[in-house]
Amino acid sequence: MKIFLDSANLAEIQYWNELGVISGVTTNIKLLSEQNVADYRDHLTKIANIVNHPVSFELQEDDYNNMINMAVEISNWHRMMVVKVPMWPSGIGLKLLRDLKDLNVRTNTTWVTSITQAVMALHAGTNYISYFWSRANKNGINAFSDVQSLHYFLKDKFYKCLIIGASIHNEEEFKNAFKAGADIVTVSGKVLQEILNNKATLLIQKEREEYY
Ligand code: E4P
Repeated sequence: MKIFLDSANLAEIQYWNELGVISGVTTNIKLLSEQNVADYRDHLTKIANIVNHPVSFELQEDDYNNMINMAVEISNWHRMMVVKVPMWPSGIGLKLLRDLKDLNVRTNTTWVTSITQAVMALHAGTNYISYFWSRANKNGINAFSDVQSLHYFLKDKFYKCLIIGASIHNEEEFKNAFKAGADIVTVSGKVLQEILNNKATLLIQKEREEYY
């Protein structure tokens, strides 16, 4: 079980990395624009140098050849870069996954909200599947059951692909994603801090302080 930080904030990434908690970082266009990032290459290279663990950067839909070239370019920014390929309804992402595998570019299939999409990405050769936990649940899909089935399927068939529990917005979802069998959970610094602020732990602290 590993934790990735879902963030593009350099100070936040540095902070959680120094605590030894995170084993990777995931970013997306929304997180990057919140940090007003203009130079993606420079920013993502900084993140990769801080963590020295896998760092995912999301492709934007474009002409197929442009996307392949962009993906190869991203993988050359730093040896830890992983290209996030969205599960676009057009299906073009599946073709990208297949071709990027042949080019030895590591991929993380994102926006996955069903086990059937996950199986498609798996067969196209992805290295990571980012299952969007809260988004699936909000749309009436049972995320727990999907991730659990996927976990057993991958285990039985000895696939090397790792499941990332993504779109995790609170501690309950974090716990459930691991219970269901996610290999990695990616969360914001806010959720990690909420986990540290556990009510029971705060009470223990208060009690101990009476004896300091
Ligand atoms: C992770 O890789 C995703 O970008 C992230 O968890 C997105 O989820 P959200 O948009 O529901 O927050």
